[in-house]
Amino acid sequence: MIKPIGSEELQPRFVYDSDEHDKLSHEAESLPSIMISSQAAGNAVMMGAGYFSPLKGFMNVADAMGAAESMTLSDGSFFPVPVMCLVENADAIGDAKRIALRDPNVEGNPVLAVMDIENIETVSDEQMATMTQKVYGTDDAEHPGVVAFNGQGRNAISGPIQVLNFSYFITDFPDTFRTAVEIRNEIAERGWKKVVAFQTRNPMHLAHEELCHMAMDRLGCDGLVIHMLLGKLKKGDIPAPVRDAAIRKMVELYFPPNSAMVTGYGFDMLYAGPREAVLHAYFRQNMGATHFIVGRDHAGVGDYYGAFDAQTIFDEVPEGALEIEIFKADHTAWSKKLNKVVMMREAPDHSKEDFILLSGTKVREMLGQGIAPPKEFSRPEVAQILIDYYQSLNG
Ligand code: ADX
Repeated sequence: MIKPIGSEELQPRFVYDSDEHDKLSHEAESLPSIMISSQAAGNAVMMGAGYFSPLKGFMNVADAMGAAESMTLSDGSFFPVPVMCLVENADAIGDAKRIALRDPNVEGNPVLAVMDIENIETVSDEQMATMTQKVYGTDDAEHPGVVAFNGQGRNAISGPIQVLNFSYFITDFPDTFRTAVEIRNEIAERGWKKVVAFQTRNPMHLAHEELCHMAMDRLGCDGLVIHMLLGKLKKGDIPAPVRDAAIRKMVELYFPPNSAMVTGYGFDMLYAGPREAVLHAYFRQNMGATHFIVGRDHAGVGDYYGAFDAQTIFDEVPEGALEIEIFKADHTAWSKKLNKVVMMREAPDHSKEDFILLSGTKVREMLGQGIAPPKEFSRPEVAQILIDYYQSLNG
């Protein structure tokens, strides 16, 4: 099986031993505590679940800057984005060396993790600006990822963490949320050797479904892991339970039995395009995938990134840092001439009019009016789930 990044064994930060878990939960109640941001909570969940292995905790400013500037930490290890715990006010910590991190996304703000504090530093405006520019490629105040990153405080608390739970992800998505440990185990149980992962934050239309089939056929994969984002999205994106239902219906009806796993991870969308694609590949290797699909405008938003920037960025990944291979896909769409979904660059005798291309806005408009997009664009059963959702918004 493909090895995790940077070590022989996956190193999840969740405390699996039940005695130790009890002890830590008990201790946490008497520690000074601090409420963390939603992004930091997502980072903690990802570290708990083993996805960010071998990272042990939140980065100090030097490591965060190294990740942003060259995807390299002070000790030379590879990580594609800063993983920070930024808070407005660190006064509650005093001179404590161990603190409890409270979850902003769960009622009552339970303790999500315990942290050994190595450092508390103030991040300068210049450092924030550099990280923003390097990770998001823009400092535009309209960019949802830029807004979320800069909306946090300027005090960076760093040090290793021990994670006590997976926030709201297990309770809200019991059938779909999976840790990297669980996905690795399931891949091994199924005996899959070549496994391709598909990242998504959207429902899957026919172009996405066929993209997965193409990747599986061309790579000769035993299995596909659809791995959807379950954390926060920008306004207007479709909520996870609706996407989940639509994707499950598609897999049930249009994939051979035991060829696809429908899973998800607990992290807020960064909308960082190319950099997020590298992060995506990183944690798919950790969950045991050998291949990862990166298509058109991967993890993009608006027109901040070139359609294939999230593919070319892999040329900048330090040699040997990633073992997972990238399946770089062209724009897929239904060809009216060939009566099937194709990669557009593989249909050279076609003009734009020969494809069925609908903008996201157009599709949303149709669904909102109760109109199913053409069957060459969406499976009718998938469209119906989306129509029901949009109509519930209108009603
Ligand atoms: S993402 O933000 O999670 O990347 P989305 O769920 O829309 O967004 O896309 C999931 C994956 O499918 C990404 O790799 C993306 O590049 C790819 N993709 C989406 N639509 C197409 C398309 N029409 N052609 C090629 N790739 C696509």
